[in-house]
Amino acid sequence: MSHQNSISSNFGLADALSATPEERDLVKRLNTGVERMEASLESNLHFGDAHTDTIARYLFEAGGKRVRPLLALLTAEYGDPTRDDIIMGAQVVELIHLATLYHDDVMDDADLRRGVPTTHTVWSNSVAIITGDLLLARASSLASTLGDDMVRLHAATFERLCLGQLHETTGPQKGADAIAHYLQVLADKTGSLIASSAVVGLMTSGAPREFFEPLREYGEKIGVAFQIIDDVLDLDGGETGKEKGNDVRNGVATLPILLARAASDSESVSLVERIDTAIESNNTEMFAGLMDELRRSSHTKDTITSARRWATEAVAALDILPDGLPKKSLARFASRVIDRTN
Ligand code: IPE
Ligand code: IPE
Ligand code: MG
Ligand code: MG
Repeated sequence: MSHQNSISSNFGLADALSATPEERDLVKRLNTGVERMEASLESNLHFGDAHTDTIARYLFEAGGKRVRPLLALLTAEYGDPTRDDIIMGAQVVELIHLATLYHDDVMDDADLRRGVPTTHTVWSNSVAIITGDLLLARASSLASTLGDDMVRLHAATFERLCLGQLHETTGPQKGADAIAHYLQVLADKTGSLIASSAVVGLMTSGAPREFFEPLREYGEKIGVAFQIIDDVLDLDGGETGKEKGNDVRNGVATLPILLARAASDSESVSLVERIDTAIESNNTEMFAGLMDELRRSSHTKDTITSARRWATEAVAALDILPDGLPKKSLARFASRVIDRTN
């Protein structure tokens, strides 16, 4: 229970929403929802033999913020939040996310995830890739219990997510704007699943149809903000349980480094040159210091300002929804996305 409690309080919801009995009830409902989602996932992550189960449950058991299920539970407040399908929907989005982490760590050559050594470093690339596929297969079969619309939603979402990962890998086409390319990658690889998490909460709670588009837009924009902040956290590791500077070291474009590369002042030019030298010469100590320098630079400040803008626009998408606790909670959720350190 304490772990689940820490999830919504981590996201600032418990702190922001404890003034009235109605707010305290919501926090309780969210905590119970996350707890039920985890218990259900726990019972569904079995594949027949103990060794396979150890690998397939490895990152689930390592923790994580459960942000996507939490968002689904929040948007379910617009319908009937007591429906059991909501828990299944929340579970499916977390499972898809989990699968992508197995793959992403191979793609990004990452050593640490959720505070533990990555799956491919414990077993192998092949094991990590096929286990990610296995989790996706299980997510699809669970989604199918929620009907055709849910299967279609997840298929379309996953297609976009893959395209985002692919376009990040292939980079911008010749002559294309690097920052526009980056933002499209973010919307696709991260915004798509977070947007769908918001929609899943609406679908499974039977919320009014006219709420879908504003909340989808909210989710997508929050997703972009979430990923921009993830890129900032990459520079210092934060409390993410991930390795510091992994994106920059592996040539993954992130906004702070893109802004530094686009700048022509001598300080920025020198910083970029020194980062490239540290990577080429594999000088880890120098690299760590340069990540600190980039973190303190105006490029990172501008990056955070950009994330804040995306979050503000996300909240603006909710303008046409009725005022009330769900809306207030989503606004709070948006500000936590920006302030987060994990
Ligand atoms: C990590 O997502 C991958 C991104 C899209 C940035 P989270 O930051 O939600 O990871 P967990 O689930 O808390 O580990
Ligand atoms: C991952 O983005 C997005 C997906 C898993 C689809 P990142 O590559 O930034 O994720 P982290 O930082 O390793 O969690
Ligand atoms: Mg990646
Ligand atoms: Mg990252």
